[in-house]
Amino acid sequence: MEYTSEIRKATDPIYKKISKAMPEIEWSIHAPYIYKINELKKKKNAVILAHNYQTPEIYHGISDFSADSLALAIEASKTKADLIIMCGVHFMAETAKLMNPNKKVLLPDMRAGCSLSSSITGEDVRNLKKKYPNVPVVSYVNTSADVKAETDICCTSANAVKIVNSLGVKKVIFLPDDYLAKYVASQTNVEIISWKGTCEVHEKFTDEEINEIRKNNPGLKVIAHPECPPDVIKASDFTGSTSGMIKYVKDNQPEKVMMVTECSMSDNVQIDNPDVKFIKPCNLCPHMKRITLPKILECLENETNEIVMSDEVIKKARKSVERMTKIGR
Ligand code: 13P
Ligand code: SF4
Repeated sequence: MEYTSEIRKATDPIYKKISKAMPEIEWSIHAPYIYKINELKKKKNAVILAHNYQTPEIYHGISDFSADSLALAIEASKTKADLIIMCGVHFMAETAKLMNPNKKVLLPDMRAGCSLSSSITGEDVRNLKKKYPNVPVVSYVNTSADVKAETDICCTSANAVKIVNSLGVKKVIFLPDDYLAKYVASQTNVEIISWKGTCEVHEKFTDEEINEIRKNNPGLKVIAHPECPPDVIKASDFTGSTSGMIKYVKDNQPEKVMMVTECSMSDNVQIDNPDVKFIKPCNLCPHMKRITLPKILECLENETNEIVMSDEVIKKARKSVERMTKIGR
């Protein structure tokens, strides 16, 4: 697609914002897509929701709402748009569909999965419930709709501790992230029965790596996502969901910060916080990175890659997400 003078003029306000993080040669490739997507989404009354791990051209260029998975689920339940495009991974698009069973929800690449979501099936949850009768099931939102259908209440990294405490019980089954389960267990007196899932991005970080980077960067603030291993969380100054981490940077304006999470998030947050220096240990989520501007345009033009689920699954799975959104952050 050609980078015409009309496109340059129309997209210039967006480029001004991100120009420090992106050379003009790269922008000239993205801009025609950004222009076309923004025109088309108005025409079709579509909303583009993007997770914080999307690349800057998506996060700053075309997204109507960028956030963590809790806010994306809440926003999906409120939207007046006819069409929802989820720039994120499959479980996020499914969650948006659960909140909007009568709307079309599209995912630009159906292969955008998640190692946590694929670590457990509905059948696994049914077996756990047999093994631990009457113990409530709390599932991370990073699960399939089939797993959510077997779940009492969902949670995200932003509200996991609050959700577990809200149940007023002594023991819960907490699925599927073993590291998030360990983090929750460290913050509550409720006994946690966990599963063996891990995030393939966050499990790669180590406390040695963090301590080494700290040594070379005096005054560095280290903020970590709770999907990281316990040693990494211990070596950090703050732990929170992706939006919690963004808020930490915005509110504290540290001189130097390292976000121990998916790499694109630092690029996005740096653009909004030009006075903060970011140290970036770069682990990318291959699933999140499957979403690109050409795929978004194709999906919006042809309305392909629709999320479809049976009414029965929607009815059962929706309850566990709704119960979570009522409790909130
Ligand atoms: P958040 O809910 O913190 O945005 O995290 C989602 C996710 O996939 C993290 O890896
Ligand atoms: Fe899943 Fe980890 Fe990717 Fe998030 S970063 S979508 S938890 S694999």
